[in-house]
Amino acid sequence: MRLDRLLAQEMISRKAMKQALLKKEILVDDCPANSLAQNVDTGLQKLVFQGRQIQGYEHTYLMLHKPGGVVTASQDKDLPTVMDLLPPDIQSDQLYAVGRLDRDTTGLLLLTDNGPLGFQLLHPQYHVDKSYQVVVNGLLTPDHIQSFKEGIVFLDGTTCKPAKLDILSAGPTESHASITISEGKFHQVKKMFLSVGVKVVSLKRVQFGDFTLDSELAEGQYRFLNQEELEMIKKYLEKSG
Ligand code: URA
Repeated sequence: MRLDRLLAQEMISRKAMKQALLKKEILVDDCPANSLAQNVDTGLQKLVFQGRQIQGYEHTYLMLHKPGGVVTASQDKDLPTVMDLLPPDIQSDQLYAVGRLDRDTTGLLLLTDNGPLGFQLLHPQYHVDKSYQVVVNGLLTPDHIQSFKEGIVFLDGTTCKPAKLDILSAGPTESHASITISEGKFHQVKKMFLSVGVKVVSLKRVQFGDFTLDSELAEGQYRFLNQEELEMIKKYLEKSG
């Protein structure tokens, strides 16, 4: 949550916040806060305002192994959503998915109620890499690796940033590969492969920034982030503000 929102919930006036910020009297994990827009989670960080520790709000962070057939949305009038996979006591209006996977895409999805975090993780400025396992309906060759490295250009002229393509197996009617991209354009991976003449028949996200899909999680299952992963979240929080 933004620091100013959190402090406002403690009935601290904006003027008092600004003064305390200037005087370095707002400490996040013992370091002076650098901005009132800083993203803070008092479940993960110690927040002290003028010598008083603020309890604030502990956010929820989940990893979900998204199955095919569900949409990445909070609600949908026709289709099941990723939220429907969670038990009612975890579902909340505040919870949302960080980034979007297509209905038929499976794999790693982070869910949180920490609003600014999604913005940070998805903002191009933060260069969060995403890796996918992909199956396509044709032959992949070293030329494709080169094209992805140089930056695929879509038919409409949009140029993608360089991507890393590793071919795992190649055949005339089916190839398996892994691809890492640093952007999040709409249907990006599918469009990139279409641009080189093959169609994606299966797509699974296995990595999102520092987070790796837990191989113990079956499709449709979720879990809370573990301590190590929460430390990674802290790293992203520290970049904010
Ligand atoms: N790229 C796609 O084309 N689809 C996804 O779901 C994710 C990335």
